[in-house]
Amino acid sequence: MRTLKALVRRLIEAAGYTVSRRLPDVYDQDGLRSIHHHDFMLDPAFCRAYERGVTAEGVDYRIHWRIHVVLWVARSASKVDGDFVECGVNRGFRSSAIMEYLDWDALGKTFYLLDTFSGVDARYVTEEDVKAGVLERSAAWLKNGTYINDVESVRANFSRWKNLRIMQGPVPESLDSVESERIAYLHLDMNCSLPEVEAFKFFWDRLVPGAFVLLDDYCFKGHETQKSALDAVVKTKDADVLSLPTGQGLVIKSPDSTGS
Ligand SMILES: C[S@@+](CC[C@H](N)C(=O)[O-])C[C@H]1O[C@@H](n2cnc3c(N)ncnc32)[C@H](O)[C@@H]1O
Repeated sequence: MRTLKALVRRLIEAAGYTVSRRLPDVYDQDGLRSIHHHDFMLDPAFCRAYERGVTAEGVDYRIHWRIHVVLWVARSASKVDGDFVECGVNRGFRSSAIMEYLDWDALGKTFYLLDTFSGVDARYVTEEDVKAGVLERSAAWLKNGTYINDVESVRANFSRWKNLRIMQGPVPESLDSVESERIAYLHLDMNCSLPEVEAFKFFWDRLVPGAFVLLDDYCFKGHETQKSALDAVVKTKDADVLSLPTGQGLVIKSPDSTGS
């Protein structure tokens, strides 16, 4: 219904009319209830990017504040010399939104998009994650269509852009095929500890000073095994994770950093 409304609104706007929008006083969705201003939701560039994400996903999960964070981080990273990487892409909600928002091909960066495109790989699920139900959740999400199992439709979603590489395969095995030695933006969203930790370790030395690492599930309830595994590895790099009220976590590689 909401997607239909958004489509109607887009058609009206394409015809040159302005649709007045009103926001509820309280933001209350995606585990976050806040009276703080959320007028980013009215910004036309934000709306276009968000709708592009919804088009990729086919569903609006009402995750506006999370996407606001994603877009803020991506825009900040676009000013840093280096490429973008997302581990855990699925249909490409966040990465499509970023590409729309930043006019991707004009930036001259490559976006590496890594995923099995068939759910978690059981060989890379720790015992703690098995106990936490990661395998069951992935199987259920593959069955109900939340997780994609069809890389061709993902390629079709991204066909509008040139500067990207869709890399099908399990992390950590697929990490070596990322050629870029300079990364400005790393997004970890595999809902699974071991691949996220291995990706973080693999890319840390390739992150340029001032690069951003965004962790989609970092402080979500039900993802405690991921949080503690990531906390442990981030500490080894003399860095800290900023817990965001959206449930995400953010790490910035120190701009003064000279290496690992
Ligand atoms: C929550 S979804 C990603 C959502 C996505 N970032 C978006 O914007 O919609 C998690 C994805 O991680 C992928 N995944 C899980 N384990 C993986 C692994 N070891 N290697 C690569 N991809 C993995 C799944 O196939 C799934 O598509």
